[in-house]
Amino acid sequence: MTAFTINGRAVDLAAEPDTPLLWVIREHLKLTGTKFGCGIAQCGACTVHVDGEPTRSCITLLQDVAGMEVTTIEGLSPDAGHPLQQAWITEQVPQCGYCQSGQIMQAAALLKSNPNPTREQIVEHMDGNICRCGTYVRIISAIQRAAREA
Ligand code: FES
Ligand code: FES
Repeated sequence: MTAFTINGRAVDLAAEPDTPLLWVIREHLKLTGTKFGCGIAQCGACTVHVDGEPTRSCITLLQDVAGMEVTTIEGLSPDAGHPLQQAWITEQVPQCGYCQSGQIMQAAALLKSNPNPTREQIVEHMDGNICRCGTYVRIISAIQRAAREA
């Protein structure tokens, strides 16, 4: 059994300790907002927060989060009211949407540590999150809007 917290809820999970956290989140806990993209830490679709740090859940093992606090897109805000989620809607960021929860989780970690990032800091921080639909310009606009309006 591995005990940890997910979106504020304590869980004690019976799964192999080397199960990828992404599988735990999607298959065991049925939180499907977090996506599988590449499985090798190259795309960012699976980004969640572990103790507040943006983390690629595809290469993180269940045993790595024992006693820690995991936050997924479902837990970012109780009512989808996080400034980034609101800005994402206003800027109409998503196209297919597949990468977007990872993008928002990556961006949320930035705004937490740096509430007023420059454009360059945004681009640098978001660099590893791939969007095959090419929504990068709107992603940057939405992060800038969220920083302004938070
Ligand atoms: S699925 Fe984890 S980084 Fe691509
Ligand atoms: S919106 Fe389609 S991959 Fe990003």
